[in-house]
Formats: sequence, C-alpha cells, structure tokens
Amino acid sequence: MNSFDFLGSEQTVFSNPDALDQDFVPKLLPHREEQQRFLATAIKPIIQNRSGMSVIAHGPSGVGKTASTKRVLMDLEELADADGVAKVFVNCWKANTTYKIMTEIANQLGFRFTHNLKTNEIINRVLEKLEKRDGLVLVLDEADKADDYDFLYHILENISKKTLILLTNENDWGSKLDFRITSRLTPELVEFKEYNLSETKDILSERVKYAFFQGVWDENALDLLAHRATEFKDIRFGIALLKLSGEIAESESSKKITITHVETAINKLPAFKIKSSADFNDTENFVMKICEEFSGRTTGKLYKIYSDRGGKKSEKTFKRILDALAKKRIITQRPTGDGFKGRSSIIEFRSPEKKLTEY
Ligand SMILES: Nc1ncnc2c1ncn2[C@@H]1O[C@H](COP(=O)(O)OP(=O)(O)O)[C@@H](O)[C@H]1O
Ligand SMILES: [Mg+2]
Repeated sequence: MNSFDFLGSEQTVFSNPDALDQDFVPKLLPHREEQQRFLATAIKPIIQNRSGMSVIAHGPSGVGKTASTKRVLMDLEELADADGVAKVFVNCWKANTTYKIMTEIANQLGFRFTHNLKTNEIINRVLEKLEKRDGLVLVLDEADKADDYDFLYHILENISKKTLILLTNENDWGSKLDFRITSRLTPELVEFKEYNLSETKDILSERVKYAFFQGVWDENALDLLAHRATEFKDIRFGIALLKLSGEIAESESSKKITITHVETAINKLPAFKIKSSADFNDTENFVMKICEEFSGRTTGKLYKIYSDRGGKKSEKTFKRILDALAKKRIITQRPTGDGFKGRSSIIEFRSPEKKLTEY
C-alpha cells in the first residue's frame, strides 16, 4: 500500500481548482450583466471607427468591478472587428506614476525598449504607437491610486478614438479630478453595488459548477457559506471559503462537503489571509504586519517602526498604504486631532477573530 493511496483521483471534490483562484475570470458573471452591457456600449463606437465614451465604474471592493471589466476586454479580444484596437489594462496601484503607467502601456503594446527613456520620451513613443492603431480601450483599475494624472491628460489630449474605463472604490472620485482632465474625459458613471444574499448565492453556486464535481456540495453547507460571504460584503471571502471547505472535506476523505466542513473553514480562515494574498505587494504586506503587531499606535509611531525595520518608503506613501488598508477594512484609523494639521490617527488592526465572532 502506498501512503498516498487516499489521494486517488476519484477522491477529489474539485473538478477544476483553478476556477477558485483570485485572478480567474468566469465566462459568466451573474448580476453584472447590466454593468457589462454598459461597458460594452461605451466601447462599441470604437469598433465602428468612431469615438468612444468614457466610464467611471465605482463601488466597494469585492463587487466584481475588475472581473467584469476583464471579461468585457476578453470578449473584445475575440472580436475580429476589433483586431486593430489597442486594449490595455493597467492597475494604478501597481503602476502609480505617469512614468510607470506609460511604461506599462508601452509593454502591453509590445514596445519593450523603455528603460533609459525619460518620462516625456516614453509618453511620445506611446502616443506614436497609439496613433497607428484603430482606437484605444484603456482600463485603469484602482484609478484613484495613481500619484499623478499627467499620463491621462496626454492620452485624452492626443488620442481621438478611445474609451477609458476607470475603476475606483470611491464614489465621488471623478469630482476630485483636475478640471483639465474632467473637461476632456466627460465620463458616464456606472455603479457596482454590494451583492445581497440571493445574488451572493447565485454567484457562488455558479462558481461551484466551474470548480467542483457535481453533487459534492451539501445544499445547507452552501447556504451557510453564502450567508457568511454576504455578511462579509466581499465575494472573495466566499470564494476562499469554497476552496478551504473543499480542502477540509478532502483531508477527511469525505466525498461530500458538509456544514461542519464550512464551519471549520470559517473558523480557520483569517480575514487577513484572504485579503493579503494576491492583492498586496511586499510593501503592503509589510505595513499590514506592522499594523497587526502594533495595533493601537499612532500613524507617526507606526511609521517610525516601519523605518526602523528597514522600510524605505516616504511617510506620504506610508499613509497612502494605510488609507488603502482602511478602505479594505483591514485597519481602522481614528483621528486623534493631534499631529501635523491634526492628521495623526490611531491605527487599529481589525483582527480576524473579532471579525469572525461578529457574525
Ligand atoms: N458577479 C460575479 N460573478 C462571478 N464572480 C464574481 C462576481 N463578482 C465578483 N466575482 C469574483 O469575486 C472576486 C472579486 O471580484 P473583483 O472583480 O476583483 O472585485 P472588485 O474589483 O470590485 O474589488 C473575483 O475573484 C471575481 O472573479
Ligand atoms: Mg478590483
């Protein structure tokens, strides 16, 4: 007998575990049909060689903004009529300056010799490349996270056939933009609302079909899971629970996933872990760990600890990261009224235990 006999292929509950990965983009996104149609309508004129419409899509995190937009872009890739259209997807959290964003656009356009170029040289090269294409569809994910918007101005000013899709967590972000940008962008707004219980159930049931063998999920177990995911207000939590529950069932050599497996998964899954995996880079994880270890200190103290431990980012960038963590409900910031312009805050890490007993 082999020690791994229990791993026989008939024992797995997963038909396609990749469908539970963070960056998996399902073919169908239930309850996002309307938003996807809106985005497609904004892009359509480009395919017909006319000028497109720009869109700001807003809503909290984990409501399908990124996934819906990626699906629309993937569908566009499949259209022969749109072959000549440049399709670019940039995350402004990862590339947050005009230089980095333009370099990223250049790379996606297949132009690789960008190092040693100055910012304005890259801008010119990108614009030259784009002028040769039959229009541009540019998605800026986490658009509010960019440090400057010069790149946007140059694109708006120089590229005539374009659709810009800007994704953001902030509701009124568009109104904060510089007039020289808004006057050229004139965006339509589309809102992505939090999913309610029945929508969450539909989405998770659909994902179950992609990822698991038929019949392995106990109806009540899935129901409990959907309730928790709805309360957590982030479908990512639900998807992570699907995965972990399946793994727990497998580790017990169970062919069914039951309420007990889901309960174990809920108790095991730190909110912190799901939020920290794919969405954050090393710096953000580093800041997050410091917030966890030194929860309850002020912004200034935390920055000092960060620097003492070898952190190299400026205090401004550090605060930007804290703001983002707060938005993702990983920490809370309570202003003390002290400090420079009264901007000092007490940072509290929202521990997963506390989070989970809130249910
Ligand atoms: N309507 C939906 N149908 C299927 N999966 C969804 C849906 N909405 C969100 N998801 C999934 O949930 C996760 C979070 O969605 P995402 O698009 O990243 O949210 P946001 O960009 O709004 O923060 C992704 O893995 C995505 O595939
Ligand atoms: Mg997103």
